[in-house]
Amino acid sequence: MKEKLEALRSEAMNDIAAVQDEQTLDAWRVKYLGKKGALTEILRGMGALPAEERPKMGQLVNEVRAAFEQAFAEKSDNMKNAAKNARLAAETVDVTMPGKTNKGGSLHPLNQTLADMIDIFQSMGFDVVDGPEIETDHYNFEALNVPADHPARDMQDTFYLADNLLLRTQTSAAQIRTMETRKPPIRIICPGRVYRADEVDATHSPVFHQVEGLVVDKGITMCDLKGVLEQFAHEIYGKDTKVRFRPSFFPFTEPSVEVDVSCPECGGKGCRVCKGEGWIEILGAGMVHPRVLSGCGIDPEEYSGFAFGIGLDRLTTTRYKISDIRLLFENDLRFLQQFEGGNVK
Ligand code: DAH
Repeated sequence: MKEKLEALRSEAMNDIAAVQDEQTLDAWRVKYLGKKGALTEILRGMGALPAEERPKMGQLVNEVRAAFEQAFAEKSDNMKNAAKNARLAAETVDVTMPGKTNKGGSLHPLNQTLADMIDIFQSMGFDVVDGPEIETDHYNFEALNVPADHPARDMQDTFYLADNLLLRTQTSAAQIRTMETRKPPIRIICPGRVYRADEVDATHSPVFHQVEGLVVDKGITMCDLKGVLEQFAHEIYGKDTKVRFRPSFFPFTEPSVEVDVSCPECGGKGCRVCKGEGWIEILGAGMVHPRVLSGCGIDPEEYSGFAFGIGLDRLTTTRYKISDIRLLFENDLRFLQQFEGGNVK
């Protein structure tokens, strides 16, 4: 009987060492410690022993039972601890992991330039106005002194939507809308998209951007025009930039000028960007034609004004040294990310 007990003890201890989960542990308990378990079985056989051996055997059985119970308790504790540790390990937060950040977007270079332009003109007392991109013939051409047979109306330049309806070819249309609704003194700029049926290449796009300007008041002269536009060019390109006014022609201004700045790429020596000229043209301007003023109900004897139209795309490409206008419209993140934070990297 003693050998049986010892054999049982070593079998049970071997078994429990291999136990991995609660279910097998419970089965182990039933097998060795249960009411119908192996130990009980042995106890039952005690009756057959001689009386003097019984207390000794009884003690041994109790010892084995105690050993089983302890082994069971230890195993059970170990398993609970292991489960807890596994859970804690799974729940651990690694504070050394890099954080998740939401990357903010940034202004498109066109909008950065526009924001700077708005700042400059607002500081000179200009309001910002908006105008429709779909215009009538009247606002885009007629009221701007562009008669019906003017070549600018050609189908090859203008996108017509209907007989009298078109995609504006110039923000100048905003001048008329402003003069019809506001009384002088007027000082506005109107930024926006304009459309022309141009072939796409490095310097042309059928959609581009202009910023129109208009000043109307008593006693406005060419000196005001020069002062405002020179100041603007210096703020955008820097104080050392030279500004040049060239005589030109626009139907809605008289006299008309085009304004050039010394090439920001080469400083005026001549390079690929300025096509060897040393100058780049940034805007058209002039004194508002008396016919345009009177057409809007403003007496040209009493009031005068100047207007200008700045090419925003040109200004942006020269300022940031962007070699191809198409880059402004492709929305390639590798390009746009270079302008994060408002500065060119
Ligand atoms: N609208 C002209 C263009 O698209 C630019 C322009 C020239 C606007 C002279 C004006 C101006 O307001 O006075 O080329």
